[in-house]
Amino acid sequence: MLLGLDISTTATKALILDPDGEVKAIGRSPHTLQTPRAGWSEQDPEEWWQATRQATEQAIANAGCSPEDIRGIGLTGQMHGLVVLDSDHCVLRPAILWNDGRSEAECHDIRTVLGLKELVRLTGNDAYAGFTAPKLLWMRRHEPDLYARVAHVLLPKDFIRLRLTGELATDRAGAGGTLLLDIETRDWSKAVLDALDIPLSWMPPTHEGADVTGMVSAQASEAIGLPKGIPVVAGAGDQAAQAVGVGATTPDTFALTIGTSGVVFAPTIRPMVDAMGRTHAFPHAIPDLWHVMGVMLSAAGSLQWYRDALAPTVSFDTLMDEASRVPAGGGDIIFLPYLSGERTPHANASARGSFTGLSLAHGRADLTRAVLEGVAFGLKDNLNLLAESGLSPPESLQASGGALKHPLWQRIVADILEIPLVLTSVTEGAALGAAMLAGLGIGHWDTIAEATLTTLHDGPVVEPDDRVAALHRETYARYRALYPALNAE
Ligand code: XUL
Repeated sequence: MLLGLDISTTATKALILDPDGEVKAIGRSPHTLQTPRAGWSEQDPEEWWQATRQATEQAIANAGCSPEDIRGIGLTGQMHGLVVLDSDHCVLRPAILWNDGRSEAECHDIRTVLGLKELVRLTGNDAYAGFTAPKLLWMRRHEPDLYARVAHVLLPKDFIRLRLTGELATDRAGAGGTLLLDIETRDWSKAVLDALDIPLSWMPPTHEGADVTGMVSAQASEAIGLPKGIPVVAGAGDQAAQAVGVGATTPDTFALTIGTSGVVFAPTIRPMVDAMGRTHAFPHAIPDLWHVMGVMLSAAGSLQWYRDALAPTVSFDTLMDEASRVPAGGGDIIFLPYLSGERTPHANASARGSFTGLSLAHGRADLTRAVLEGVAFGLKDNLNLLAESGLSPPESLQASGGALKHPLWQRIVADILEIPLVLTSVTEGAALGAAMLAGLGIGHWDTIAEATLTTLHDGPVVEPDDRVAALHRETYARYRALYPALNAE
């Protein structure tokens, strides 16, 4: 059995994959999110470790196997998070997450120090608030006493790796999201680290996704109930792992994911860098492969906020069923999903969400539908961005994410993107991808193609409806006009 662990924003998920590529069980233990100020987003790494224990126990119990059956572990998780440790490996402050917008000034500083062109040439990316490096610089400016004690910088899943194996290490796909990685060499950029005055010694060694980075230690074995000595592979940042878990490991297969964030992901055989840094270019989880992606910050996160704020006692299914009764393409209400600011296509941590077009005739169902459509428009923006940076549009998208379980959202996304959605059979794509990388790392599979063939089976295809697509096109034009009107800087 292989164990995939996904330290996501909302929960830690543990997925058990059997040797024939069948998902046996998934365990889940939620995380809390702290927003000490508007635009800030933090979590306690200790909570991830407790959640890892609980989710793993749950998965093993649900799979009806024993901890001794686990032969390899793969890690994945939310990207870009800043975890800082002192020289004794103690956590110095709560982790600052990928959707935290406090470091806009530091993004500006980074562009000034390196020049946008050089920054993009070296790292493949512009500086986005939420990426790791600007947050580290924020800490240097605002928390100098703590900063003086920093000895190690880790990403969220790598904190769990440290707890599991005692080793400091990271994967190259995830490392790309720090803004400190050289996109060509797939290792730390001395030029960027020096320019920003960040010691190379703080950064853990980088590895390809299937490399074994350590074994479960005796101490971890006692804490978490897994036998010591199980190999733990590097794994990947959640988007690259998700791509492995839905079969997006060749340049012709794009992935679309609706999680807390919303992502359009395209594998590439070379780093494909947008000269203005409007898209993200990172290594993929597989050697000699890269990827380019557009990331909107609040996708299912928008629906989650909407329900928590306006209908906390109503189930998601009820909200979706109500919204199904609103005719498609009505387009009266438009929702802008910039609840955590935005990354692509609007690199603006201060952008804010909105509902426009409300009247007395509207009710909850109309608002819910507007949220679903607004998120799909955000995804369309990102798909268009990839096309503008030179990628030919794909024939279909491998679509995944818990939110896409509901037929209404599948339909809305297919009609707005005007591309067929291939619904993949698993909802926890990132955890599955991590387990597949573990299978590669321990030699159970020889190639990613073999792992994919044994494990993945495409589900039904949702074809766009041309008539409805035309209606959405009109609404999309109005959606596009709202960002400049409402979020002028
Ligand atoms: C990717 C990104 C998000 C997080 C959250 O660039 O920021 O997808 O990884 O899961």
